Amino acid sequence: MNIRFDGRVAVVTGAGQGLGQSHALGLAARGAKVVVNDLGVDGAPSASALETVSMIEARGGEAIANGANVADYAQVEAMIGEALAAWGRVDIVVNNAGILRDQSFAKMDDVKFSQVIDVHLKGAFNCSRAAWPYMRGQNYGRIVMTTSSSGLYGNFGQANYAAAKLGQIGLMNTMVIEGEKYGIRVNCISPIAKTAMTEGLMESEALDLFHPDDVTTGVLALCSEDAPNRMILSAGAGCFAATRLYETQGIYLDYEQRSPETVLASLPEILSDKGQAEIANGPMQTLKFVGLAADAQGIELGSASWGPKG
Ligand SMILES: NC(=O)c1ccc[n+]([C@@H]2O[C@H](COP(=O)([O-])OP(=O)(O)OC[C@H]3O[C@@H](n4cnc5c(N)ncnc54)[C@H](O)[C@@H]3O)[C@@H](O)[C@H]2O)c1
Repeated sequence: MNIRFDGRVAVVTGAGQGLGQSHALGLAARGAKVVVNDLGVDGAPSASALETVSMIEARGGEAIANGANVADYAQVEAMIGEALAAWGRVDIVVNNAGILRDQSFAKMDDVKFSQVIDVHLKGAFNCSRAAWPYMRGQNYGRIVMTTSSSGLYGNFGQANYAAAKLGQIGLMNTMVIEGEKYGIRVNCISPIAKTAMTEGLMESEALDLFHPDDVTTGVLALCSEDAPNRMILSAGAGCFAATRLYETQGIYLDYEQRSPETVLASLPEILSDKGQAEIANGPMQTLKFVGLAADAQGIELGSASWGPKG
């Protein structure tokens, strides 16, 4: 199987340098026409976005530069409009643009928190939202969110960034449910790469192992026709792993047993991994509890279901 993107139109945000540039080059090298977005000045493309476009063109590919601020919906809508005007469709959105505003939680202020949420979470929402109706209309779409180990597992000084990055996973989980019947698949990449963002964070000998191209390899798989759906793929230094959310089977407590003391005393059972499973959507968790509680109380239920009313 040779993954190709001929005839596909991709938008890659934050593609003037680092990971985004690598993703744009990788998509273009396999035939995609690419909107190379990076934060410009007064909406005009930045020199770095133009540079990525030149690199693509020099290799025989097709690309246009775009200077939208992903945090600004009007600019993002205009960007999707440019893709449609140039090539008539939009098949792939890679939400990659990002910034850091690190501060310990004790000192984290509203401005730094909002700036990071606006670029990473609101930006991913904006770009996905603007492309969504066209993807639905053509019954095809591939969206990649860029999450982070900081969001998945936490990192000192990155409460804002961690919240935004885990927020993208929440966004993915619901977009997957709503996009499935329209051929839209949504996944997350959790990268590790040597870029301007990570320079100086690790010994350079170790950081040298993490070339952006090795993350792009994973992103291209997530953008392909045979992409998985709802996957959190970590990639770096040639290593690939998946992060999954599991819920333990849990326990049922009789009415007389229900106390915070019993909950604490029952933690070994609550935490037991016996019977743990992934849950397909939020209401499924409620149905699981309905089943546990009804069984324990000997209540016969009809077919319990859960869904939008009316
Ligand atoms: N490098 C890593 O190891 C690593 C690890 C985890 C997550 N990430 C994520 O990967 C993505 C790319 O990171 P990178 O390491 O290439 O960083 P980078 O700083 O090299 O590149 C980020 C790009 O995003 C652009 N950008 C910032 N704000 C923007 C906005 N409002 N609108 C449009 N473009 C904007 C910047 O101009 C820059 O070109 C980010 O979302 C980052 O959080 C990176």
